[in-house]
Amino acid sequence: MIDLRSDTVTHPTPAMRDAMYEAELGDDVFGDDPTVNALQERAAELLGKEAALFVASGSMANLVSQLAHLGRGQETIAGASTHIVDDEQAGHAVVVGTSIKQMRENPDGTFDLEELEAAFRDPDDPHQPITGLVAIENTHAHSMAQPLSLEYTRGVAQIAHGHGVPLHVDGARFFNATVALRLTPKQLAEPADSIAFCLSKGLACPVGSVVVGSREFIHRAWRGRKLVGGGMRQVGILAAAGLVALSDGPDGTIARLAEDHANARRLAEGLAEMNGVESPGGLAQPAPGSLDPSRATTNFVVFRLRRDRAAFLDALRSRGVLMVEYNHGTVRAVTHYGVTAADIERVVAACADALRETSVRATQVTSAATLER
Ligand SMILES: Cc1ncc(COP(=O)(O)O)c(C=O)c1O
Repeated sequence: MIDLRSDTVTHPTPAMRDAMYEAELGDDVFGDDPTVNALQERAAELLGKEAALFVASGSMANLVSQLAHLGRGQETIAGASTHIVDDEQAGHAVVVGTSIKQMRENPDGTFDLEELEAAFRDPDDPHQPITGLVAIENTHAHSMAQPLSLEYTRGVAQIAHGHGVPLHVDGARFFNATVALRLTPKQLAEPADSIAFCLSKGLACPVGSVVVGSREFIHRAWRGRKLVGGGMRQVGILAAAGLVALSDGPDGTIARLAEDHANARRLAEGLAEMNGVESPGGLAQPAPGSLDPSRATTNFVVFRLRRDRAAFLDALRSRGVLMVEYNHGTVRAVTHYGVTAADIERVVAACADALRETSVRATQVTSAATLER
């Protein structure tokens, strides 16, 4: 199977498996797991922040960041389609006790800075909650994973800081953004007060995310992690894979993300030529017509079909390729470690076949239904 459902399906590299086997362990709730401590130091250094915290998942990273930044009754400003708003069971409300002011988003994953300025609450009006955080998502998933530029991140931070409010970046795919923008992680992290990034997506680790920020922020996030049951013990066995991912040498998995981006572009180019594939619409590509391959700037390809979507996905599966249903009736393919350029050529051929079969099948179903009537 060539599994393009998500970059979360990646398995650890051989170097990661070796490192996990050899990892020196301690009890991380006592703070004495040397491998976790080394990962946290490495992450903080790489992103140019004072400290870091290893957590179980991207959702937990966002949750403990909100617990650390916000008090009950405060409000976060965030894009309406972002993971924090839409895909974390409203953890901000359930656990943190906060609301979210949702911003209209643009197809490049940004929101307008004038609208951001206007979204801050008036702290002197007792009817209103107090704005306590601005959060952006980089890369921004629903815009076909566009990377948000350093200039934009700086603009958002400047406005947030002008109101005395911190900026959090949900960087589940932060390194896809740095690689696509040809920036160092430190450069893109600089304007933000906290960044959460996933090890278990494009970086190919089996489990985990990391939050980085100031020492005080990480101390509060560390307390929040224990509150939500995220205190883990001999967890260096997982952190060891993260240390490999973030290493500079040939075993590191950051620089190779460029291959995933090239593969996504090639897949989008192949799909764009096929009759039956069209613009996904929405934030992913608002312009109607054919799929525009230049929208594939990192590792997502999102498209719409002039076919039955479930039948197409079944036909693909029977040819050894997995993709997934995505929002607003679209299909998503995500490239990642373990999927080669040659695999992408197989995927393009499988899509062309599946489209042919799906149209034939649709015709057969129609004529059978007509006969029954
Ligand atoms: C943008 C974004 N943030 C956060 C997460 C949450 O990560 P996890 O599945 O590890 O909780 C995801 C997962 O897909 C994501 O895409």
